[in-house]
Amino acid sequence: MAKPTVDRPWTVGVLFSQTGVTAIIEQSQLNGALLAIDEINEAGGIEGRPIEPVILDPRSDPQRYRELAEELLAGEDINVLFGCYMSSSRKEVLPVVERQNAFLFYPTLYEGFEYSPNVIYGGAAPNQNSLPLASYLMENYGGRFYFVGSDYIYPRESNRVMRNIVRQGGGEVVAEEYVDLQAGPKDFQWILEDIERRAPDVIFSTVVGTGTVNFYRAYHESGGDGRVRPIASLTTNEAEVAAMGAAAAAGHITAAPYFRRLDTEANASFLRRYHARFGETDTVTSCCEAAYFQVHLFANALRLTGTTSADPLRRVLRGAEFEAPQGRVKIDPDNNHTYLQSRIARVDEEGEYVVEREATRPIKPDPYLAVPALNDWANVPIRKE
Ligand code: ACM
Repeated sequence: MAKPTVDRPWTVGVLFSQTGVTAIIEQSQLNGALLAIDEINEAGGIEGRPIEPVILDPRSDPQRYRELAEELLAGEDINVLFGCYMSSSRKEVLPVVERQNAFLFYPTLYEGFEYSPNVIYGGAAPNQNSLPLASYLMENYGGRFYFVGSDYIYPRESNRVMRNIVRQGGGEVVAEEYVDLQAGPKDFQWILEDIERRAPDVIFSTVVGTGTVNFYRAYHESGGDGRVRPIASLTTNEAEVAAMGAAAAAGHITAAPYFRRLDTEANASFLRRYHARFGETDTVTSCCEAAYFQVHLFANALRLTGTTSADPLRRVLRGAEFEAPQGRVKIDPDNNHTYLQSRIARVDEEGEYVVEREATRPIKPDPYLAVPALNDWANVPIRKE
């Protein structure tokens, strides 16, 4: 006998890689999403129905994201996906969700210059992270930047944006080099020699996943010191720092909306629940926090619509707010991106990020950098440690 509708779960697809080059960070996103789902279900679900995740492992392979998204959305039950870290995987899933009028919640910083009515963007756009980072670096280190990236769309596009910002501030990019996504420690050797030769003020890294661990370690082993010439990044988080070790990470800089050591009651409560669920792991990152609050934003919207159909969900998601561990976040009704906090932190000797500068209010997402960049950021009140 068919179960009565009221008992049926709300089924959602979850596509975060547990294997491959970006598993290190995507495991943190998976945990964030699962914690939020547990919280919602423990509080009685939505209309008495629990949220049930169907979790698949795309193995850090963009094609596999597309195939699995097609599989998940092929049936009647699933219309909402949470997933993707690399922009190359989001670009593969995008036409699938658009064709089906489904939803992708994407909890990752990215290069901007995209809009889809079928995506809710929960990570930072360049005006929320690249801009404040560039201002901070030029103020504190100088204007000569060396760019190192993994070879795919996010690093190349993110560097294009960063180059414009650096030039606008009167700086210069002395080199822009790429390594394979699978790069091992030896693959960074020639870049380290080139850095030594060109002597930039700062290194901007858009390397991702295990490449990050290999790059920072190789830099440290070659005598590089973050306290003298830092590597600054948007894709290095607590998870990568734990994997590379405190010695290799010390002194390096990241810009993100959230850091694990934020000293707020909301964050302390989030961390207590996270560690009770997953133990004492090093997987609390800004990407984990984004996955967590995106599930809550979805659940709150579902409570209002009673359906996972995209059109009603979109109507209530636009302008929706949530008290996240980073502070209050809000989905911008203009562009489906999210008003986020903006913080710059440095890794200390123990391998913990310590916030050195933060905006005093959430920053409106401007994914197309429609507002003249550095001038806009200069008007944001900041707090310096
Ligand atoms: C990224 O590829 N958006 C980190």
